[in-house]
Amino acid sequence: MKFFIDTADIDQIRQAHAWGILDGVTTNPSLVAKTGRTWQEVKREILDLVKGPVSLEVTAIDYEGMMTQARALATEGEQVVVKIPLTRAGIAACRQCTLEGIKTNVTLCFSATQALLAAKAGATYISPFIGRVDDISNEGMSIVEDIVRIYENYGFETQVLAASVRHPQHVLEAARLGAHVATMPFGVIDKLFNHPLTDIGLAKFMADWEKVPSK
Ligand code: E4P
Repeated sequence: MKFFIDTADIDQIRQAHAWGILDGVTTNPSLVAKTGRTWQEVKREILDLVKGPVSLEVTAIDYEGMMTQARALATEGEQVVVKIPLTRAGIAACRQCTLEGIKTNVTLCFSATQALLAAKAGATYISPFIGRVDDISNEGMSIVEDIVRIYENYGFETQVLAASVRHPQHVLEAARLGAHVATMPFGVIDKLFNHPLTDIGLAKFMADWEKVPSK
């Protein structure tokens, strides 16, 4: 399973990158706004640091606008994946990007039938938003399960990218179901390291090592 970090904060990206387990980055307009920095700066720094897939979202909502932005974003680096919302215009833009060899991540997906549309349009990634579905008392993970099954049924190559991940249990479930990627906020990646028995075990090893006479 690939690990992407879901942030536009360069310090968080640097830290996760230093751990050596980061495969890529996803951003969205809200995450960029949170940094308080310009889009130009944020985008450049991320692309200079990360050579794996970096999803950069279009902000136009009409087909022509999306295509203009998608073509411009795609020239910024080989690793750019253009993030496009799952709307009628977005699916048409995704199809055109596929024809032009531009990689895409179809975002704001909340159902398996929407995911079917993205696969038919040749999306590189589909991003079902698990946490936001859980937030409205539905089961986000069942959408991931359906998408994985449907894509397997028909041999679609679109990769399932579990998004809106809120805690390690989401990561575990997504991995069990065979999602190709999970994109996680920094805090969730950080929590994956934690286990009290690791801390207790390490403290004991260190204490015992002190007792060894001549090291
Ligand atoms: C996906 O690529 C989105 O950026 C993200 O996962 C949204 O997550 P949220 O629901 O926590 O905002």
